Amino acid sequence: FARQFAFAQGLSAENGAVSEAAIRNARFPEHFYWGTATASYQVEGAWNVDGKGESIWDRFSHTVGKVKGGDTGDVACDQYHLYKQDIALMKQLNQKSCRFSISWPRIQPTGSGAVNQKGLDHYSRVTDAMLEAGIRPMCTIYHWDLPQAIEDKGGWPNRDTAALFTDYAGIVTKALGDRIDTWAIFNEPWVFTYLGYGVGVHAPAKSDIKLFLKAAHTVNIAQGETFRAMKAISPKAQIGSAFSMSPGVPATSSEADRKAVERFHAVNNVYFLYTAMHGKYPDAFVGETPYDVMGFRPGDDKLMQAKLDWIGINYYNRHFISDAGQGGDPYMHFNAVMPAVGPITDNGWEVWPRGLYDIVTQISHEYSNPIIEITENGCAYDDTPFAGAGGHVPDVRRTNFYRGHLAELARAIKDGANVRGYHAWSLLDNFEWAEGYSQRFGLTYVDFRDQKRTVKDSGLWYSRVAAANHLDV
Ligand code: NOJ
Repeated sequence: FARQFAFAQGLSAENGAVSEAAIRNARFPEHFYWGTATASYQVEGAWNVDGKGESIWDRFSHTVGKVKGGDTGDVACDQYHLYKQDIALMKQLNQKSCRFSISWPRIQPTGSGAVNQKGLDHYSRVTDAMLEAGIRPMCTIYHWDLPQAIEDKGGWPNRDTAALFTDYAGIVTKALGDRIDTWAIFNEPWVFTYLGYGVGVHAPAKSDIKLFLKAAHTVNIAQGETFRAMKAISPKAQIGSAFSMSPGVPATSSEADRKAVERFHAVNNVYFLYTAMHGKYPDAFVGETPYDVMGFRPGDDKLMQAKLDWIGINYYNRHFISDAGQGGDPYMHFNAVMPAVGPITDNGWEVWPRGLYDIVTQISHEYSNPIIEITENGCAYDDTPFAGAGGHVPDVRRTNFYRGHLAELARAIKDGANVRGYHAWSLLDNFEWAEGYSQRFGLTYVDFRDQKRTVKDSGLWYSRVAAANHLDV
């Protein structure tokens, strides 16, 4: 079906492959931020060290049957202890930017009240080490590890969480705002509210679409309020969020499917961006916007509005969208499937470089050419160190993935998109949420038995790209 569909739409008959000439000629702006991204729970380990409180991901991964293979983030890449080594690695790979996140329960073990100074000091040292290495720290304030104590009081569906979050962000900004300029408030708000509260495959494992709508509304309020609080503390702060975005392609040329794509875009891509920029929910709900279910109060439109300084895009793949009649998502009524016209990665995601061009240009048009940062893009392949290659990791497929995507990004830039940086997901193989350690996204191979890092061939290639500022390396 997918293949036939692609031909019908006049899409590439070449599996989405990008031409060698396009790769050779790809150009990036001067001072482009070549970077990598990680997240606290996925790499730090040290889950109960130096006063850190329990997070919902500690609870989730310690619950039998939630994470593949019973894996946990208890140790992960042990970056809490090995951060100096990892920052040296970034420097060796010619990195100019590092997107990392702060663990809320390290700063406030129960999510409110007194600060755990040891936690704060840790991130202060991390920030200094990056600056010393000539790397811009791009700090994500929330990458999913909510203090369990807050979840016990209702978590994100509880509106009070917005004010607690704003306090926490203020603590972090006060401590690090003298040295950090570039901040992402949330990482993938759609993913953690929908997968965590709507369908329950992520922490805190609740599955009720109404809880998703409530959680999402609290997050929207928290984003706007936090933006203002941070600006008041650090006026020079450049504040955005990192949004998961997937271009929707209509499954047929029918008007109904075209409209379904608009609904998919509204909920999946811009539910936390349109709201910030326009102070209202997108108009795409089928029927009335479910304000009552969200717990929307008069004045909330003002609270959630904040003109973000930049927009972060996490891109992995596209979706084919069809109208679902009365079925599908209960408030949007579409069906979304991941196609496989292009090759697929080892976790089954389609490789579709053109999607990065499509989503970047779409967002550029919809939001009047904003500053964009690619906050994540990457792929899972299982390649391991290969004795025959002298211990190298010959992950040709990952290099090809990045070559194609970066060429498409350069094309978007050539066509006018204001893209300031690109962060490969990820520097290291790490804890891939409910999939545990079964999926490897790193430019660097991690042997989780002894924490040995081996830069993969793709990582070596990426370091040459970062030095040369083009792909012909
Ligand atoms: C997006 C998430 O932000 C990140 O935590 C995750 O590991 C990657 N996607 C890969 O799934």
